[in-house]
Amino acid sequence: MKSAPGPSPSRQPSPDINQPRDNPLWLRMWRDDRTEDFHQIAVNPLLTRYWHSQKLARGSRVLVPLCGKSLDMLWLAQQGHQVVGVELSPIAVKAFFAENDLKATKRRNGHFTCWRSGAISIWCGDFFSLKKGRLGRIDSVFDRAALTALPEKLRRRYVTQLRALIEKKAGLFLLSVEDVAKASGQPPIRIDHEIAALYAEHFEITLTCSQRTHTASGDRADPAFFTDNKLYQLSRRQSP
Ligand SMILES: C[S@@+](CC[C@H](N)C(=O)[O-])C[C@H]1O[C@@H](n2cnc3c(N)ncnc32)[C@H](O)[C@@H]1O
Repeated sequence: MKSAPGPSPSRQPSPDINQPRDNPLWLRMWRDDRTEDFHQIAVNPLLTRYWHSQKLARGSRVLVPLCGKSLDMLWLAQQGHQVVGVELSPIAVKAFFAENDLKATKRRNGHFTCWRSGAISIWCGDFFSLKKGRLGRIDSVFDRAALTALPEKLRRRYVTQLRALIEKKAGLFLLSVEDVAKASGQPPIRIDHEIAALYAEHFEITLTCSQRTHTASGDRADPAFFTDNKLYQLSRRQSP
């Protein structure tokens, strides 16, 4: 599976951006305003089209790991959910509230700063250091380009950490973005295998939707690549 989108698309050799010691690379990317590869200027259409199929109650608490300044959080809050984002970069968190005209309060909590406005709170700090006790109950997860932004060797740790933070019955709504070289002969289903390998032990996995476009947007536009956008819906396996 290729890591996309990220600060340096995997078409070129890229440093291992998400080792904790490399967090400065993400911070620098936000500081230098290089977010066009992944930040969407509109709410994700697969989110608005399929979210309600989960039949999640209003008031449910939805975790958005590695949230950036995603507008998807606003939409989730408008559906009546309590949104709990986690983001490394204070620049991203500040921009989210400022650009959406939301007045936020800031509170220091351990290694994190928790920003809050209405139904949206964002924990600013390293996702891998977060403890369940701080977040409270989490009923569902919205993951867009969080798992897939991480280097492969960190993904299992990400899933372990995610499971530690959520309720036993919580499901996942997972949007992946994958660049596939047209000429590589690479099977377009690699991400399916990886998601199965990471999640199948504990979750039933449904590939709800798969859309392929011929060119990506912004700097990632490249006629040599397809971009696959997929929605996976994961629900907890029943214990025997
Ligand atoms: C590919 S972007 C996706 C952002 C967002 N989900 C979206 O759809 O726009 C990945 C984000 O994860 C953040 N990030 C990377 N490593 C992190 C970590 N260890 N803890 C918290 N956030 C992290 C980055 O700063 C970046 O904003």
